[in-house]
This record gives sequence, structure tokens and C-alpha cells, in this order.
Amino acid sequence: LAQQIFEQVLAGKRITITAGPTREEIDPVRYLSNHSSGKMGYALAIAAQELGATVTLISGPVNLLPPAKIKTISVSSAQQMHDAVMQTTHDCDIFIGCAAVADYRVQQKTNQKIKKSDSELTLTFIKNPDILSDVAHLANAPFTLGFAAETQNLREYALGKLQRKKLNMIAANDVSDSTIGFNSEQNALSVFWSKGEKKLDVADKQLLARQLMRLVAQRYTEDTN
Ligand code: CTP
Ligand code: CA
Repeated sequence: LAQQIFEQVLAGKRITITAGPTREEIDPVRYLSNHSSGKMGYALAIAAQELGATVTLISGPVNLLPPAKIKTISVSSAQQMHDAVMQTTHDCDIFIGCAAVADYRVQQKTNQKIKKSDSELTLTFIKNPDILSDVAHLANAPFTLGFAAETQNLREYALGKLQRKKLNMIAANDVSDSTIGFNSEQNALSVFWSKGEKKLDVADKQLLARQLMRLVAQRYTEDTN
């Protein structure tokens, strides 16, 4: 059906997409995470498949069914997501980092449950690897699209990430507006690349994902020809 409706502009292309939150364990019963639902990443995976791509979806813990006929790899922590990505990206054409990866993990995960005591509790966090940046800095880097979740200075921060992480494109969303983005059905995006930008207005995530994937396909085709 998809083949009849969507022009197969990504036929023969391999796309890896990260989606959802990561979960950083503190002790055997507790973890640190965020409100990402995974919907945008899953919608992008479906949109890429509709355009003919072979998709690998690497997903943190979400309440979504794996999309039909899409190879979905489930991971939990940022480190696990990093490992899974590095194993699959060596032969991919396009990489999309849509996951809300935890920037930090606890320095020392305890093997036993932390017991309540009379004193305050202090945890030390250390930085997780930046999955997207590591992919974009590979010698044989695929075409990369990143996301930027911002509560202020959207454009400036997004352009900073585009440059610092050496990305081809970045899609920024304003997460200070709780009616769109994180954990909601709808989203709106400002997409930036080195020579241009495009606003994708508030829409259902599946519709927005289709618009974004068409834009990615366009930019990818122009950049690689
Ligand atoms: N990202 C990643 N690995 C990380 C952190 C972020 O792959 N450890 C990716 C996200 O999937 C997203 C992009 O980097 O595509 C930007 O994530 P974001 O959290 O907005 O930016 P950070 O660089 O982490 O900066 P900050 O959270 O301070 O804004
Ligand atoms: Ca971050």
C-alpha cells in the first residue's frame, strides 16, 4: 500500500533512528529518566519506511508497539543505546538521533537498594557519551539529523548543536510549550541546515514526521549528488 501512495525516494537507503528516553539505573529499584514518549522517533521510522528505506529503530523504554516490519532493537541506558548504535551505523546512509538520551548517569550504581538514613543523600553523576555526535564524527559518517529540545534561545542553541556535533540537519522544538513536543500527540519543528531553514507548523506527529522525512530525503539527495 505504502508503495502505491508514497514516491520511493529513499529506496535502497538504510536509516538508523534512535527513539524514546533512556533509563539510568541508580540502584536495583530506582532510575533517572525523562518524559519522552518515543512517538516522534517511531513516527519517523514509519515515514522513512513509507519512502522505501530499510529502517533500524533503536529504542529506549516506551509504551509503543514495535512498528510492523521495522527491525526494532530495545535498549535501556544511554551506554546500551550507544553500543547498539555503533554496531549498526557502520553501514547506514542516514542516522537520525531522535532519542532523549540522558546526559548523565550515576557514577556508581549500587548493587543493593539504597537505604533511607537520617542524613541527606548526595549522588554524583558522570557524563554519558553523546551518541549523535560520535556518529557524526565517524570517519565514514552517514548523513545526520539531530533534534534539539529547548526551552529558550531555540535558534541559537539549535545552530550551536548543528555546528558542534557536525550534523547535516537539526530539528528544534520548543519544549516550554507543554501542548506540543514531549509526551504529546502534536509537535512543531524549526529545521536548520548549513544553507537554509524551514518551519514545520504544529501538526500530528505522524504528519510532521512525513514532512520532515521528505525534507531529509531532499537534503540528503542534494548533499550526496
Ligand atoms: N544526543 C545523543 N546522545 C546524548 C545526548 C544527546 O545522541 N548523550 C542527541 C539527541 O538524540 C538529539 C541531540 O543529541 O538528537 C540533541 O540533544 P539535546 O539534549 O537537545 O542536546 P545536548 O547536546 O544534550 O545539550 P543540552 O541537553 O544541554 O541542551
Ligand atoms: Ca541533553
